[in-house]
Amino acid sequence: MAKVSIIMTSYNKPGYIAKSIQSIVDQTFTDFELFLMDDNSNAETIKAIEPFLNDKRIKFYQSDIQTMNERVEKVRYAALINEALHKTSGEYISYATDDNCYRKNRLEKMVDYLESCQSAMIVYSASLVNYLNEKNEITKQQLRHAKRIVPVAPCQIDHCSVMHRSSILPVIKEKFGSYWDENPEFYRIGDARFFWRLNQFWDFYPIEDILDDNYITELSIHYQLQQQEKSEFIQMLPPQRTCKELREELRSMKQQKTIK
Ligand code: TYD
Ligand code: MG
Repeated sequence: MAKVSIIMTSYNKPGYIAKSIQSIVDQTFTDFELFLMDDNSNAETIKAIEPFLNDKRIKFYQSDIQTMNERVEKVRYAALINEALHKTSGEYISYATDDNCYRKNRLEKMVDYLESCQSAMIVYSASLVNYLNEKNEITKQQLRHAKRIVPVAPCQIDHCSVMHRSSILPVIKEKFGSYWDENPEFYRIGDARFFWRLNQFWDFYPIEDILDDNYITELSIHYQLQQQEKSEFIQMLPPQRTCKELREELRSMKQQKTIK
């Protein structure tokens, strides 16, 4: 049994995924299992993953998704994460994507925090967001700070910057019927929707250091959404629910709680 279970989702990022996996293999904290959840990527991506599969800590799963209809039916990364969560054995859960790199001491710092602060159920770190152009040059950088205890995390924190205790999972399942919400109206902000669930019970505790680098590439869902000419995938998505809605609803639920 590993102390930390990490779940990485993957779909067609041949140029980035090896770097993402390598950043996990290189962690100073080594007692982890990595669930590598691939959504039936192209051969080039699988080729980039293969060299890592000898590492006993890495468990590779591949979906059999074939059509675009299947791809938009559910938030695919939420479905893959839910599948992995049922298999995890770690005391702590952490998330990763195929275009995010953990800094070397990310797991160590987060585990230390959770071990020493029993009242914290969820921690998050600062993160550096890098926007890349088609030549892989950084065109813009944005620092996501982690300075405060956060009661309203949707759209403020990314799931690649979070670790939570696995003991919170049964509570979420009981209240909402699943861990992550697979409703495709939340494709754009699936992690925000998960945090909307978490924040109904717990705050997010800050670690001020930058512990991951996030890359927004021309392949990202967010990049595609911003383009004038919409890809087939984007065109087929249902209308997307908003950050504003999630944040306002959380705030109003919290206000009602304190008034009562
Ligand atoms: P990504 O394209 O990185 O979007 P963004 O960073 O703008 O939110 O996608 C997020 C994650 O979802 C990534 O790890 C890949 C995964 N994913 C699937 O598993 N299946 C899919 O069909 C798609 C589109 C994404
Ligand atoms: Mg991404």
